[in-house]
Amino acid sequence: METTKILLDEKEIPSRWYNIQADLPKPLAPPIHPGTGQPIGPQDLAPLFPMELIKQEVSAERWVEIPSEVLEVYTLWRPTPLVRAHRLEKALKTPARIYYKNESVSPPGSHKPNTAVAQAFYNKNEGVARLATETGAGQWGSALSFATKLFGLKCTVYMVRVSYDQKPYRKSMMQVWGAEVFPSPTNKTNAGRKILEGDPNSPGSLGIAISEAVEDAATHEDTKYSLGSVLNHVILHQTIVGLETKKQLEVVGEKPDILIGCIGGGSNFSGFSFPFVADKLKGQQMRVIAVEPEACPTVTKGPYRYDFGDTAETTPLLKMFTLGHTFIPPGIHAGGLRYHGMAPLVSLLCDQKIIEAVAYHQIPVFEAALTFAQAEGIVPAPETAHAIKATIDEAKRCAQTGKEKVIVFNFSGHGHFDMGAYESYFTGQLQNYEYPQEKVEEALKHVPELG
Ligand SMILES: Cc1ncc(COP(=O)(O)O)c(C=O)c1O
Repeated sequence: METTKILLDEKEIPSRWYNIQADLPKPLAPPIHPGTGQPIGPQDLAPLFPMELIKQEVSAERWVEIPSEVLEVYTLWRPTPLVRAHRLEKALKTPARIYYKNESVSPPGSHKPNTAVAQAFYNKNEGVARLATETGAGQWGSALSFATKLFGLKCTVYMVRVSYDQKPYRKSMMQVWGAEVFPSPTNKTNAGRKILEGDPNSPGSLGIAISEAVEDAATHEDTKYSLGSVLNHVILHQTIVGLETKKQLEVVGEKPDILIGCIGGGSNFSGFSFPFVADKLKGQQMRVIAVEPEACPTVTKGPYRYDFGDTAETTPLLKMFTLGHTFIPPGIHAGGLRYHGMAPLVSLLCDQKIIEAVAYHQIPVFEAALTFAQAEGIVPAPETAHAIKATIDEAKRCAQTGKEKVIVFNFSGHGHFDMGAYESYFTGQLQNYEYPQEKVEEALKHVPELG
């Protein structure tokens, strides 16, 4: 019988994270202070982040030691399995060999605790009492609630209203781990109140919720801000995923031809793929594909330029693909992919054509989710289903050409709290949203002219 799950021993958990900043084809453009127009320094970020994370954000060291306290928590669910999707291969009648890295086995159900645990640890170490954050799909908020509880910190989560309404039990899960959760936009912050004045029924967006959490942290001495994606240190922590995957592929003697992950802010895709991108940068042949929703097609349709990370213009300006920080994406069910911007690291590698991006509508994405669940069993999160859709398309291409490619994708999370979305699909209420070109054009008018 052929192996299905490729498992590593706990002793084989990587002890270092990989920092792709050491190997980039050209350096990242620096974050810019919106007031001065100059690159920001560590002190500008100090009100929001602990110093160790700020150091990691700008570090060019190739390897960063994982603290033993973080590794100890990781062993609650890591190493995660790499699974050969035999049944999916059969269902698709493809000669391709498909593998998926199953990050859904973490307690909150996704890859997000890989960085939440690290961030909670560094904050605790520097005497912080509370973390404020945003959440879209609820996966990040759950992960940070879980991690803060383990390290004895308080946690406040601003949850995008449309997701709060779609997934009430995500809120309960965060409460299990002791967090307080508010539907964003709220009346608690200036940023939230301003949005509600313009639209009392605002569905919210990640950009708005980030503004609220940043304001909360900036106005409370004992509180710092925590971001679940986009930033370099978040991506650094997520590389544990790709480093494990590499070891697991070595066990079965495979080299990937195609790597696939979904992109919201870019963290699971990057963490999974960057240890392999390091090989690609040295000349190894492979395709690396990032998958996004057609309703929020940041990389496939947006320009590559400086923009704010949030709606209220409180963050530094980052050079990235963007649809404009005032753009509020349609309320698709992949809430974690409703972000106007993209990680600067992903943006740079896309711009340099080292990685590629594709976009899909949500109905074919849900069809792919069903194909996967009916073959492999696990019900994917709608975000993850984007990666599955691209995997299935590539595997079908192999069926046409007869090529035996090795396709590996990141299974970023399960969809057990997304049954409302599946219900919409079954009752025919799910709709595809055409690319909202006019709204994006309007939003891009508000992006500062910095190049
Ligand atoms: C399961 C899952 N996958 C993917 C994402 C997208 O985020 P990122 O691009 O940072 O991995 C999210 C975000 O909430 C998520 O919950």
